[in-house]
Amino acid sequence: MDFERLLSDIGPAGKLRGHSRQQRLYELIKRAILDGRLCDGAKLPSTRQLAATLHIARNSVIFAYELLQAEGFLVTANRATCVAALNLVTHQGASQGGSLPIGAPLSKRSQQLSRTAPDSEYLPFISGVPELNLFPWKKWLSHVLQAWRAVGARHLSYTAPGGLPGLRTAIARHMRLSRGLVCTDAQVLITSGTQMALDICARMLADSGDLVWMESPGYPPARSSFRSAGLRIADIPVDDKGMCCEGNLVQSHAPRIVFVTPSHQYPLGSVLSLERRLALLEQAQKHQLWIIENDYDSEFQHDGHQISALQELAPNAPVIYIGTFSKSVFPGLRLGFMVVPTWAADPIASGLHHLYRPGQAIEQMALASFIESGHLAQHLRHMRKVYLDRRNCLRQQLLEHFGDLIQIFGGAAGMHLTLLFRRTVDDCALVAKAASLGVTTRALSDFYVDSLVGAKPSGLILGYGAADQRQIIDLVPRLRTAYDRVTGL
Ligand SMILES: Cc1ncc(COP(=O)(O)O)c(C=O)c1O
Repeated sequence: MDFERLLSDIGPAGKLRGHSRQQRLYELIKRAILDGRLCDGAKLPSTRQLAATLHIARNSVIFAYELLQAEGFLVTANRATCVAALNLVTHQGASQGGSLPIGAPLSKRSQQLSRTAPDSEYLPFISGVPELNLFPWKKWLSHVLQAWRAVGARHLSYTAPGGLPGLRTAIARHMRLSRGLVCTDAQVLITSGTQMALDICARMLADSGDLVWMESPGYPPARSSFRSAGLRIADIPVDDKGMCCEGNLVQSHAPRIVFVTPSHQYPLGSVLSLERRLALLEQAQKHQLWIIENDYDSEFQHDGHQISALQELAPNAPVIYIGTFSKSVFPGLRLGFMVVPTWAADPIASGLHHLYRPGQAIEQMALASFIESGHLAQHLRHMRKVYLDRRNCLRQQLLEHFGDLIQIFGGAAGMHLTLLFRRTVDDCALVAKAASLGVTTRALSDFYVDSLVGAKPSGLILGYGAADQRQIIDLVPRLRTAYDRVTGL
């Protein structure tokens, strides 16, 4: 064995990246044993010999050998130092770059979760992300600093189950006033956003194998949470009155959970009709099923009239209302909340604590004072106007450049428009083509399940939260060019 080559990485005398030569020698020999370059029983040179070969002090070699012996990698036999007989998992892939999996594969669920690359870039037309350049940084900073000044050691630990009482109070008051919810502070539980709320609901409201109804098209991250919790999913179509959740369907395919976006269906934008809302609430009470109401963007209602939340219509029904600060404050804050029936608040708070060990006390304190000071309401008033102008601009640009080729949905609230192509278009190819022209968008067909019988409707989701009017005017013509190239027009 050519030890000089094997250990040539030992480098110069002195510390290299904080490691002494004796530590580096120890590492190099250990790595060579672990990846199979030094096999069971291989004899190592004497300490004197190796020190001479590597031009290092003999003490350094003694140190490395002793440490490796103490850990069981080396043994002494007949006064020679040898590699111990170890039952090592051989690194079959190491010589080809170490990327081959050894042994345990990832779960089947993980294939679903890792199928599409997450898009986290802040680009115009990205869906669900607000305008972050207009966020009142300075005001927010003053609340954060105030929170840091007020903290004690206990705030740096895990937070109380359900979240900080001050934030629960602030949210309960804000939601009663601005959204008409009927709730006490104790019914408000703080989460790290909608995703955590969905995850805890999937785990605490249903058992593995139970049925959940989802809108089709629907919100893919909800599907991921439900699937990961082992729930079966029934895809319920959506029409212009929202989810088609008629009572007779509940009787024949009784779910444990109905997941719905009643005030602004995601992504098509329809509003669940009052008739269907009341029928759903009645069925929920009759069949003891849970309704999860994802009210993700109703701070931004653009057409004057506020749509009532299901939670408000029947405060004692088994409804979990989910709200988020991802759009009203900023997504990276990772704070949201649930409003749950009184009887379920303590068990769910306890589940949140056991599953996620919540923290973020400083952010929670800052957010509570941001709400209580009126700064949130002020920011919302400003942003409503901004988003309304952007929605109008986007709608007008789309009509101008696409005319009768499209139908536009979903402008009554929030910060996205959904277009449906009147003819069948490969919307995934269109998304790729648009990306090559600098336009980020999502294919509508991605929001339907793969198993959907017949052709999936084709269209695009265009978020205007992060696209100002100048960008909208610049990007829509490029989108039309992409459309022409994909459809051969
Ligand atoms: C339908 C829907 N629900 C919820 C959210 C917010 O999720 P979170 O609170 O996890 O950021 C989004 C964000 O885009 C959304 O589109």
